[in-house]
Amino acid sequence: MCGIVGYTGNRKVVPILLEGLRRLEYRGYDSAGLVYQSERKLVKFRAAGKLIHLEEAVDVAIGVASHTGLGHTRWATHGAPTLDNAHPHSDCTGELVVIHNGIIENYGSLKEELVAEGHFFSSETDTEVLAHLIEKYLENDLVAAVQKALARVEGSYALGVMWAKDPNKIVAARNQSPLVMGVDDEASYVASDVPALLPYTRKVIFLDDNELVVLEKGSYTIMEVDSGREISKKICTIDWNAAMAEKAGFKHFMLKEIFEQPQAILNTVSGRIIPDTGEVELPEISLSGEELCNIERIALVACGTSWHAALVAKYWIEKWVGIPVDVDIASEFRYRKLLMNERVLTLSISQSGETADTLAGIRLASSLGSKIVTICNVVGSTMTREADGIIYTHAGPEIGVASTKAFTGQLSALFMLTLYLGQVRQTMDREKLKELGAALIDVAGVIERILPQLQKDIQELIERYYDSRDFLFVGRGLNFPIALEGALKLKEISYIHAEGYAAGELKHGPIALIDKDMPVMALVPQDCVYQKTVSNVEEIKARQGRLLLIGTEGDTHLATLTDDVLYLPQVNEELNPLLYTIPAQLLSYEIANRRGCDVDQPRNLAKSVTVE
Ligand code: G6P
Repeated sequence: MCGIVGYTGNRKVVPILLEGLRRLEYRGYDSAGLVYQSERKLVKFRAAGKLIHLEEAVDVAIGVASHTGLGHTRWATHGAPTLDNAHPHSDCTGELVVIHNGIIENYGSLKEELVAEGHFFSSETDTEVLAHLIEKYLENDLVAAVQKALARVEGSYALGVMWAKDPNKIVAARNQSPLVMGVDDEASYVASDVPALLPYTRKVIFLDDNELVVLEKGSYTIMEVDSGREISKKICTIDWNAAMAEKAGFKHFMLKEIFEQPQAILNTVSGRIIPDTGEVELPEISLSGEELCNIERIALVACGTSWHAALVAKYWIEKWVGIPVDVDIASEFRYRKLLMNERVLTLSISQSGETADTLAGIRLASSLGSKIVTICNVVGSTMTREADGIIYTHAGPEIGVASTKAFTGQLSALFMLTLYLGQVRQTMDREKLKELGAALIDVAGVIERILPQLQKDIQELIERYYDSRDFLFVGRGLNFPIALEGALKLKEISYIHAEGYAAGELKHGPIALIDKDMPVMALVPQDCVYQKTVSNVEEIKARQGRLLLIGTEGDTHLATLTDDVLYLPQVNEELNPLLYTIPAQLLSYEIANRRGCDVDQPRNLAKSVTVE
């Protein structure tokens, strides 16, 4: 949610800022802007809309010999996505600039105060108050002025500040919005997320709340925002490389990431499931066997696609481990009365590890005595630093805004966690662990094998569906959350109205929507609820719904219900959610692509939602 990038070093800054912004554009693309130091002046460029417009605007500046600058890509919160509201924002003199990710919640009262004191505002954003507030406190010391300004601010921020009169210096600070520094011998970097740094360095420092950093060419000083006390922090080495965040010949990141899923699953289970013995090893969970045996309930907290993974996990954990599981959308969890104690394990699931609502949820649960484990894809992200234990998904960088490989990585991690809990609490015997561990590894191979042909089959099929106005996705049991996920994928990237339903629930309302114009993707594997799902499909057919069925190879009955059937191999039915997600993802992708939608950057969305 907004991307920020900053650099000071020996190289020309504008290409570095543009490359960083390109890699952060998934965080927001309502407008973009940058600023660089030119002798004792700051030169600013901004453009409404996607980064390409900024690139056109700064073409003339690509070669300038400036070595310090800041860039920003915006996801609008306060103020429309216009040029005036694009960052960087300046103070009254134009000599001080600020870029910001987050929300200044008390910006209204601050703005009133500053306007009364004669400050002139040129945008509708909350961010602009930061520029004027720093200006108000600025005498000769930029850091001191930033500290004084931040002491007055309520809300969340990751920000970067430059002042023309103190050249080649960037001051950056964070509270509740992510910020990571990159370091090497000759330069210092700051960014919202690691992919912006990957072409230059893999040595990073994750900043925490109430931390401020002063970046100068090849050196940096980190301190607490409130006290100014200097602190030293650990440098981490990231094992992602720059090529992992490229499209590698695919038309879109989303398609590439769909095809990366077999590897993402294998990377996630590798070294954790020991196929010969069926043993599961999860040392990073950092909870002792005794602590795990004492758990009386598990609370799963997540947003969006990650919440769908949580819904699947409820079926698995309750069935195989026998612990009651609650599943909550984080934005609801954090504002309801929580019945929590030290015997409840809270599990957050998040691709980014930065989602504001999920973070707030785990902080609340932790304050009530619950232990926190996070399932997360981004090493070093805020959630991983705040949790008691971590299970990393090793899906690699996910750039497409619609989550795909992170989801199947989460499902793999959750299934592995189920096995681990079953092992520790002895609710599963060795043979069962071995069988299900092997089944998880197998499903990666099955997905790898079917992907190319499945894509071709779906490309043919979507000619009959791509111009639909509405779409239903239905499934039962483990595949009910996959129906929800299919509907979410389709609506977010194709803008077709779609809903996911438990197939058995259709008769309580949604069946009223069924007619010859209503496409329904039904997930009908030959599992324990197969007959029930088939009956629900019959009910749709009886009302002339346009059925698109996904079922098990060899199930000839499905072909008697509709012409549009896609067959998937039989796998252990516990793993069907991983397999049945694939056609739903591909259908959404192909429809969105056919409709000419911007698949990787759908309107109004951002990948990392760091505001509530
Ligand atoms: C955004 C993204 C979704 C993601 C959700 C939760 O809405 O567009 O793809 O599922 O945030 O994000 P998280 O990083 O916590 O999994």
